[in-house]
Amino acid sequence: MAAAEDRGAVATYIPPLATIDPSRFGLCIVTADGAVHAAGDAEQAFSIQSVSKVFALTQALGKVGDTLWRRVGREPSGTPFNSIVQLEREQGIPRNPFINAGALVVADINLAGHEPRVAIGELLRFVRYLADDDAITIDEAVARAEQATGFRNVALANYMKAFGNIQHAPELTLGVYFHQCAIAMTCRQLAMAGRYLMHGGLYRPGGARVVSAQRARRINALMLTCGHYDASGDFAFRVGLPGKSGVGGGILAIAPGKASIAVWSPGLNANGNSKLGTLALERVAEATGWSVFSAA
Ligand code: DON
Repeated sequence: MAAAEDRGAVATYIPPLATIDPSRFGLCIVTADGAVHAAGDAEQAFSIQSVSKVFALTQALGKVGDTLWRRVGREPSGTPFNSIVQLEREQGIPRNPFINAGALVVADINLAGHEPRVAIGELLRFVRYLADDDAITIDEAVARAEQATGFRNVALANYMKAFGNIQHAPELTLGVYFHQCAIAMTCRQLAMAGRYLMHGGLYRPGGARVVSAQRARRINALMLTCGHYDASGDFAFRVGLPGKSGVGGGILAIAPGKASIAVWSPGLNANGNSKLGTLALERVAEATGWSVFSAA
C-alpha cells in the first residue's frame, strides 16, 4: 500500500471535504456479465462532485439533444477545472461540459421549465435509476458549504450570463449545480450507475435503452478527452479508458463492453484528480488489459 504522503491532499476549498480521512480507499468493478467486485471502502458514501457532470450531461442531452452543443464546446480546455480565462475570448461558450463553466451551462439546461428543487430531484431520480439504488441522497451540508464559498462558480455563472449563455438567474443555476455536485454515492453505486456507458447505452445487456449507442460513445469520448481537465492526456496515457474525476476523490472509468469501474481515494494531485485513484485504475487497466487503445 502506498505511504500516506503519496496520497495527495484532500480538497479544502469545500470545507466539509477537508475533514475526510485521506486514508480511505474504495474500488468497485461491475463487469459486463453483471458481476460486482468490491474492495476496501467500496460501501462508504463520498461526495461525487464533478463525476455528477456525466449524469447531468446525459440528462441535458435527453432534454435538448444536440442543440446543447450550440452552448457548450467539445474540446479539451488545457486549463484547470475552475478556470475563467477562455470564456472572454470564446464569447461565454465553455470549452466542454466537464469544466465547471460547461457544467453550469448544462445545469442551466436541466433547470429549464422547472423549479430548482424539481430539476435536482429529477437528476437524483435518474442517478438512483441508473444505480438501481434508491438510497442515494444529496449531502445538504456539502451543497450549503459550496453555496457559501463557491465564489469562482458564482463568477463563472455571472460571466456567462453576461454573454447570454446562462438563461436563468445565476443563483438558481448555481443552486442546481451545487446540489448535483453534493450527491453522495459509494463506489458500488457509482460503478452500477456507469453501466449504461459500458453497455452501449443500455441499462444492461438486452435491457432498457438509457441513451442511444451513438450518445453513449460520444459521452465516453468526452470523458476520455475532457474528463480529467488539463490532466486528461495523462489519464489517457496511463489508464487508457474514458474517466471522470471529482474533487471528492472519486473517479468513474468505463471499459466499453467490459466494465464500469469506480474508485475513491480522497487525496488529490495538483490537477484536482484522485492521486491514488488514478494509480489504482492504471493497475486495474494493466492487469486486465482493458484499454480503448488496445487490439483485444
Ligand atoms: O464546482 C466545484 O468546484 C466542485 N463542486 C466540483 C469540482 C470538481 O469536482 C473538479 N474535479 N476534479
